[in-house]
Amino acid sequence: MARRPRVMRTVSALRRAVGEFRKSRQRIALVPTMGALHAGHLALVRAARRRASRVLVSIFVNPAQFAPHEDLATYPRTFDADLEALAGLGVDLVWAPPVDVMYSPDFATRIVPEGPAKVGLEDKFRPHFFTGVATVVGKLLIQCQPDFAMFGEKDYQQLKVVARVAKDLDLPVKIIGVPTVREPDGLAMSSRNAYLSQSARAAAPMLHRVLEDCAGKIAQGALIARVLDEGGAAIERAGFTLDYLEARHAETLQPVEAADDGPVRLLVAARIGKTRLIDNIGV
Ligand code: PAJ
Repeated sequence: MARRPRVMRTVSALRRAVGEFRKSRQRIALVPTMGALHAGHLALVRAARRRASRVLVSIFVNPAQFAPHEDLATYPRTFDADLEALAGLGVDLVWAPPVDVMYSPDFATRIVPEGPAKVGLEDKFRPHFFTGVATVVGKLLIQCQPDFAMFGEKDYQQLKVVARVAKDLDLPVKIIGVPTVREPDGLAMSSRNAYLSQSARAAAPMLHRVLEDCAGKIAQGALIARVLDEGGAAIERAGFTLDYLEARHAETLQPVEAADDGPVRLLVAARIGKTRLIDNIGV
């Protein structure tokens, strides 16, 4: 049976283990997650293993990034299965602090990101989300002291926000983006896909199909505004309520009007039933 990783639940135990790794000059890579691990998370773990001899995975459902009306209480928690999935992938440590270890009762400090966190995409629909993400990721990077930290392109704006935070705070870590892992029909893997009803699951791959179609047309010189109008209509016809479908500069996330203003990234968020899905693609 593959060896299960060691689980740490206190900052002092984690510090001791990380201190040992650092003393022997081993490179450390961190994969931050909220658990309910799927093949997308495991791709991040494999990418971490390629870069570093020590791999840490954090599993922490971060209350600070959920709004009161969001799914904190029902967010899927599958800790035993997660450890099983990580066994055999060369993961040294799982950092799984209880909420009151991560946030003591008198906790009073937050990281409030701007720049890519204030461009009118996810931030427009989840106004407190990136403060919650930046604060917990800042803490995870300080706690785990990794040389590398892996983030999925699936959450493209999050990837850009985290990279900005690490630079702005002079954290000695390289933030690495990992391409999105998809189901065979194109749907981006997500812990929240488990919420989809059968009919919503059948409609869901449409998001990726529309992104590919739009990217192809824009690459061939079609007018971006028109392509996105048509793409948005196709998504709504498939049964979604569209939050946004936008073309942005792939680095700054600022709006672009033409392919030449790029590199261009297309980003989409849409709701079907009670589930909100996001996806993105390069042009
Ligand atoms: P979570 O949704 O669990 O995702 C953890 C990491 O896995 C993120 O970097 C995310 O982009 C990546 N990921 C998710 N689905 C993926 C897919 N289909 N392909 C590739 N990578 C994928 O994102 C979070 O947790 C949290 O916001 C976190 C960064 C842990 C802070 O709490």
